[in-house]
Amino acid sequence: MSMSIEESQTPRQGFPKPVPDTSNNVLEQFKLSGRVAIITGAADGIGLAVAEAYAEAGANVVLWYNSNKAAVTRAEELAKQHNIKAKAYQVEVSQPEKVQAAIKEVVSDFGKVDVFVANAGMAISKPILETTIEEYKRQMEVNLDGVFYCAKYAGEQFKAQGTGNLIITSSISAHIVNVPIDQPVYNASKAAVTHLGKSLAREWREFARVNIVSPGFFDTKMGASEKVITEGLRMTPLGRQGHVKEIKGLFLYLASDASSYQTGSDVVIDGGYILP
Ligand SMILES: NC(=O)c1ccc[n+]([C@@H]2O[C@H](COP(=O)([O-])OP(=O)(O)OC[C@H]3O[C@@H](n4cnc5c(N)ncnc54)[C@H](OP(=O)(O)O)[C@@H]3O)[C@@H](O)[C@H]2O)c1
Repeated sequence: MSMSIEESQTPRQGFPKPVPDTSNNVLEQFKLSGRVAIITGAADGIGLAVAEAYAEAGANVVLWYNSNKAAVTRAEELAKQHNIKAKAYQVEVSQPEKVQAAIKEVVSDFGKVDVFVANAGMAISKPILETTIEEYKRQMEVNLDGVFYCAKYAGEQFKAQGTGNLIITSSISAHIVNVPIDQPVYNASKAAVTHLGKSLAREWREFARVNIVSPGFFDTKMGASEKVITEGLRMTPLGRQGHVKEIKGLFLYLASDASSYQTGSDVVIDGGYILP
């Protein structure tokens, strides 16, 4: 930031930077052929839909899971269906040494990491006065620390390669305070990763893009619970939860050359929930 008009008019060395050498054809821009993408929380829900989207676009996909071993078969199926390379790895994202080792293993198996989707998350939806210290710590160590570890070690790889793309699954809970159930810890953890992502977009400006996706209610294990669904539908102008197939396009866009001028953005996809 310049502090005076004189300073603001002094051209900076190396600017403007060159436009990337990508296709003019928009459908070509969306192709991920030959790219390597890691997706956390990829056994089911939003993460699996993202892995499918990337495989359909030609990427080699790496499915990270924690407890749901279905990821192993899903990876085998994706490899067969789309003639790409796919593999599942068991990685507990709240353990930094596991995250660091797994990224090294992926680089050894796949040669590089073009896209990292930090999507794993969890919620213990309770008011603060009913939340134990352990419940607080667990949500923060998965939702915030886990994203930090993934970003740190993927970022090291991106810097070494000179290129990379980090996408963080945050939430509308980073924007609004959910009703009718109070869940301040989850909300705070998501607000934190949104701002972490924006901060990294600046920090990594020379070698990687970073964007955030903020979903509203999607029909997954973490979607609207029985206690929340009626109010959730009332609050959502489109009157329903999203289907995971409806989030594939956004994650593909952010991973691909179609979004080459986009970094530091926080894209809300919520059927209109946060409009009021
Ligand atoms: N669905 C929604 O309405 C909604 C709305 C806003 C934001 N989100 C966010 O979207 C992301 C995906 O959630 P989802 O809706 O697809 O629900 P989901 O199917 O329950 O996915 C959550 C994923 O996180 C993984 N995970 C949880 N703790 C982990 C840990 N310690 N280490 C590694 N992985 C861990 C789980 O892996 P395993 O099953 O293998 O243990 C699971 O695959 C989450 O970050 C969530 O906060 C969801």
